Amino acid sequence: MPTYPRLCVLAAGFGSALLLTACSSNSTTSQEAATTSAPADSAATGASASAMPTSASFGKTADGTEIQLFTLTNKNGLKASISTYGGTLTSLLVPDKAGKLSDVILGFDNVSGYLSPAFRKAGPYFGALIGRYGNRIGKGQFTIDGKTYHVGLNNNGNSLHGGTVGFDQKVWTAKPGTSADGETLTLTYLSKDGEEGYPGNLTVTVVYTLTADNALKIDYTATTDKATPVNLTNHAYFNLAQGQSKDVLAHMVTIPADRYTVVDANLIPTGELKPVKGTPFDFTTPHAIGERIAQVPGGYDHNWVLNQATGQHSAATVYEPTTGRTMEVTTDEPGVQFYTGNFLDGSLTGKNGVVYGKHAGFCLETQHFPDSPNQAKFPNTILKPGETYHTTTSYTFGVRKQ
Ligand code: BGC
Repeated sequence: MPTYPRLCVLAAGFGSALLLTACSSNSTTSQEAATTSAPADSAATGASASAMPTSASFGKTADGTEIQLFTLTNKNGLKASISTYGGTLTSLLVPDKAGKLSDVILGFDNVSGYLSPAFRKAGPYFGALIGRYGNRIGKGQFTIDGKTYHVGLNNNGNSLHGGTVGFDQKVWTAKPGTSADGETLTLTYLSKDGEEGYPGNLTVTVVYTLTADNALKIDYTATTDKATPVNLTNHAYFNLAQGQSKDVLAHMVTIPADRYTVVDANLIPTGELKPVKGTPFDFTTPHAIGERIAQVPGGYDHNWVLNQATGQHSAATVYEPTTGRTMEVTTDEPGVQFYTGNFLDGSLTGKNGVVYGKHAGFCLETQHFPDSPNQAKFPNTILKPGETYHTTTSYTFGVRKQ
């Protein structure tokens, strides 16, 4: 199978005009540095796209570190709230077909929800930034240039979402700002050489932008001083009918992927890319999540191999019939993990007292394929010194009136 270079330096090496264009357009994100955030009431109107994000306290961690919550607003009144703890998207207000704004994200009102023993035990990663390697690395082991590395094991003898203490549990440095597209929040984090066993000091920048055309755009950039695997994503759980439906089974999903990565019992890819045709994994035309989920033991928790792997392309389209809400996910990543909240079991109660039971939300985690460092035929995930990792994913919201 072809490789899908995602690094700008590598793309240039391939001499592809298309890839170069994608790289340079992706890297134009500009945000004006802001040292202070606007007073809370200036964004409350949601009237101006040029206003700065607001900030408020989100509580403290166990060691007393203050956690901030930033809220980005666009001219249509959409609001995205992001916490410095885990760079977590904690709420996202989008309109339904009657224009009513509601929160479509699972999460908590205060950082204490994300720190609670119940949340740590369940490990759902609600809305968090995921790294250094999103999804699984088999046996937490990989070899680069003849040297074998062992990273944190936290999932049936494998490493999931960065290991024992991933980027989801780090306090990020935040800088609110604006760009031509809308309000922005720039988050930075330095993952030190050896953290969770990974090689190299990895400097990570993530920019959230809430655009005038109702997209929440996330730009991820990273550089390193030693070759290391990198696979960054966001772990938001969506329920476009939050408050009206306790599960997401009626949501209609389309994923433009003719194949998915087959996994073993512990969700580690076998290396096989299997056609979806004739299986419950075929979302090339719209299907309700609940239509065939019973045929998939445990529920959907797989990586789809997107038909288009480079440039910005669709990863999924979602339509919720009761509210009319739609969500289009676009990315430059080759894969998407479609996970239907199979492990949610009612042990967590979130915002507005909602109990999160099985299938209370779904995730569309744009990514390189799981366990790529151990699968030579999968697209490359090793970032080398001198290269720049850059990837962009957007979640665009709309409504369908009938
Ligand atoms: C994984 C699931 C896991 C979930 C929460 C998803 O990305 O594929 O298996 O349960 O994250 O940890």
